[in-house]
Amino acid sequence: MKILFTGSECVPFAKTGGLADVLGSLPAALVREGVDARVILPKYRIIDSYWVNRMHHECEFTVLMGSQQLWCGIDSVVDNGVTYYFVDNLAVFGGDKLYTGEEDDGFRFAFYCRAVLEALSRLAFFPDILHCNDWQAGLIPVLLHEQYCWDMKMRDIKSVFSIHNLRYQGLYTWHRIGSLLGLNSGYFTPDNLEFHGLLSFMKAGLVFATRICTVSPSYAEEIRSEYFGERLDGLLRHRQHVLSGILNGIDTAVYNPADDRFLSTHFTAENIMGKTLLKRRLQEELGLEPRDEPPLISMITRLTPQKGLDLVECVLHDLMRLDVQVAFLGNGDARYERFIRDAQAQYPGRVAARVELNEGLAHRIYAGSDMFLMPSQFEPCGLSQLISLRYGTIPIVRETGGLRDSIQPYNRFEDSGNGFSFRNYNAHEMLYALEEAVEYYHCDKEMWERLVQRAMACDFSWTTSAKAYLRLYQDILGIEPPPPPPKPKKSRKKPTTEIELTAVEIAPVGATHASPAEIESEPTPAKKPTASTAKKPMPEVPQS
Ligand code: GLC
Repeated sequence: MKILFTGSECVPFAKTGGLADVLGSLPAALVREGVDARVILPKYRIIDSYWVNRMHHECEFTVLMGSQQLWCGIDSVVDNGVTYYFVDNLAVFGGDKLYTGEEDDGFRFAFYCRAVLEALSRLAFFPDILHCNDWQAGLIPVLLHEQYCWDMKMRDIKSVFSIHNLRYQGLYTWHRIGSLLGLNSGYFTPDNLEFHGLLSFMKAGLVFATRICTVSPSYAEEIRSEYFGERLDGLLRHRQHVLSGILNGIDTAVYNPADDRFLSTHFTAENIMGKTLLKRRLQEELGLEPRDEPPLISMITRLTPQKGLDLVECVLHDLMRLDVQVAFLGNGDARYERFIRDAQAQYPGRVAARVELNEGLAHRIYAGSDMFLMPSQFEPCGLSQLISLRYGTIPIVRETGGLRDSIQPYNRFEDSGNGFSFRNYNAHEMLYALEEAVEYYHCDKEMWERLVQRAMACDFSWTTSAKAYLRLYQDILGIEPPPPPPKPKKSRKKPTTEIELTAVEIAPVGATHASPAEIESEPTPAKKPTASTAKKPMPEVPQS
């Protein structure tokens, strides 16, 4: 089975958000499942020379954009068993940012979509499925449908369109993009690409892909409602029979408390001592009072309205009445940057704000904190809560999207759960959940230790999700999955975790709520990154 992933960013080459983490680790997990999964992304000028020097030139051709024939090269590099292709044209991808945020992004990614399809007949790799991610790759399914259907081979290619964030849709004038690509103006209608007078890249993917996927079962359900639907809920309800949600995983080699290259000391669930030391070092690094007693609550995030900073702003002073410390890391909207800087100025030694992208500091915060706050307005999946669990840092989350699917609130009657949560987008509900967590932290050390143990035992490696994607692809291609292997006899010694984890929903969601499949997790054995992984340059960014 051959799958080509398309999208605008991918670790370790270029990253601004969680999409890059997914494209950087899901294909490798699929390769481990026996799939020939590859990735194609733009060759941005900002890609580190470490990679550029290792690239191999595959082919070159011209891409027709309006009346212009633009040169396009395809380079490749193999890393971790995955082949990555790069669409090269310095005039298009030569800026110092992945996205300009301006009108020309439309042109740049229209070029990218066309170039991907043009490359297929010239590469020694022809996919069964094009797996397109987010709006930047959204035009691929419609171009495939409209402009390549005369080619018998291309006609058979199926497409999956994955939504990582429905809010960002790629809206441009028809005149600028549609005509440039030679799309028939018959496509500029509300049931095709037109969206409130503009051409929508996202809609092109949603209307024309064989299947639609998103990054958690709950988000797959939420986006069919008006509140979460970003004005596309009608279309998503219309196509709900081909819509499904599969929870993301994390790269457990990169995020490994037992062997993390950014940490000065390490720890495991069995020996947690190092975490206390890392907390003290983090306090020193961030200029916080070096005290063990206050729980350190962190947020590592893009500073955008989605991430719930309005709630934090609303109850900051109430929160600071408790004996807590707070750390923020990330950048984004000026008003939130101002808010976290002001909070630090108001509470010196108790609040730390770092307005920057800093991968190393992010790892130290995940490891050295006690709690991790994610009060998102919506969250397609969220990776930070999964990373926090791995480092025994207890997530406090709003019950939405992937947060709802990965965090079970602490239940004192059953002594179960792996975090704390609140339901409504309401500052005082969030405050209540924080107060509850802080109360347990101060007053019941044993309970907190058990909670940390359970958090660290959760398995959110890619293996489970990769298997779910494999089933999705098999379903699309009409391949019968092999019968499941006979169940091994239960060994008395086999460790099991106490938590049932919501992982995947593979069947398309129905009109009524289909409860996500629950699977039993087992602790992941720590995997050592190779020496070469440790040296590879990674883009410096906060988590999604
Ligand atoms: C986007 C979403 C985030 C998700 C990530 C990867 O950044 O906002 O929730 O985890 O994509 O799918």
